[in-house]
Amino acid sequence: MLEQLETISQDALASLKDVQDEESLQRWRVAHLGRSSPLMQVFDRMGSLPKEERPVVGRRANEVKQGLEVAYTQQSEALKELALGRLLQTERLDVTLPGRALSHGRLHIATQTLRQIYQIFAEMGFQVFRSREVETDEFNFQLLNFPPNHPAREMQDSFYIQTGSDRGDDPVLLRTHTSPGQIHAMRQYAAMDPDNPPPVRIILPGMCFRYEQVTHRHEMQFNQVEGLAVGEHITMGDLKGTLSDFARRMFGQGVRSRFRASHFPFTEPSAEMDIECFVCGGVGCQVCKKSGWLEILGCGMVHPVVLSNGGYDPLRYSGFAFGMGPERIAMLRYRIEDIRSFWANDLRFLEQF
Ligand code: DAH
Repeated sequence: MLEQLETISQDALASLKDVQDEESLQRWRVAHLGRSSPLMQVFDRMGSLPKEERPVVGRRANEVKQGLEVAYTQQSEALKELALGRLLQTERLDVTLPGRALSHGRLHIATQTLRQIYQIFAEMGFQVFRSREVETDEFNFQLLNFPPNHPAREMQDSFYIQTGSDRGDDPVLLRTHTSPGQIHAMRQYAAMDPDNPPPVRIILPGMCFRYEQVTHRHEMQFNQVEGLAVGEHITMGDLKGTLSDFARRMFGQGVRSRFRASHFPFTEPSAEMDIECFVCGGVGCQVCKKSGWLEILGCGMVHPVVLSNGGYDPLRYSGFAFGMGPERIAMLRYRIEDIRSFWANDLRFLEQF
């Protein structure tokens, strides 16, 4: 039986050399260490041996079993190593290849321009005041000193939302400019202390709407940034200083500006502000239409009627106001020729900024 054990051991170890994958390794285990393997049969037959032979055969049989188990474990480890090696070859990762670029979104050119304007006025102490896009005729026109049938209304054809005999002269409309926010803001500030209304220093940005024939120069919706400063002893000098400084911060330190007399019902006196053409430096070119100047905003001293409509006594308080179009400013700056590009959502346009 000892000889038989040697044969069993040698056969098993020899056939283990041919085992090259996990499946045949398991088959090998069943064949050589399993319940009905020759080795286990030796254990079964032990009882029929003469008593003196049993310990010798028993010890040898256990040694053979242990030897086969060790060989099995080693082969199993070797196979795992091999499989890992193969995996590393076939699923090799080249970390030197360039990665896939993430595409970042960006801010719309109008938003970028608006934020630049907020930044400049924030540095000068102006807060942002948001006001509604849907207005009544009273706020959009009347309280700003445009009575019904005033000829200045001609410039601001409107989208009416609610008309009819019940509303009379006060239809609901989409605001045609950000100026009605001046009244809302002044009333809100004045309500804090009606006998001594606090000073106001705000900008009012937002979308405006006009019933326009849409062309490359006219859109029916556009942003405006209104500005309002009210307090005691505010003069036209403050208006000119603030806006000239704005122009230098927005368009470059060297830029010159000029004010031309104009008319708005809600300011007196009223002016339009031009900056020296930054394309040609004032010599005259296509962008400035040979004039050397670019018009960028309307402004003026707040009309006494508007001050008192806002709750500010015009004998004690004065103020200045202005209104500009950020899309128009972006058009001048980047020489955008068609205002319709802003809201057409064409990525070829938007991705340029
Ligand atoms: N609201 C005017 C418009 O849309 C722009 C404007 C002009 C606003 C002069 C002002 C101002 O505050 O003082 O045409």
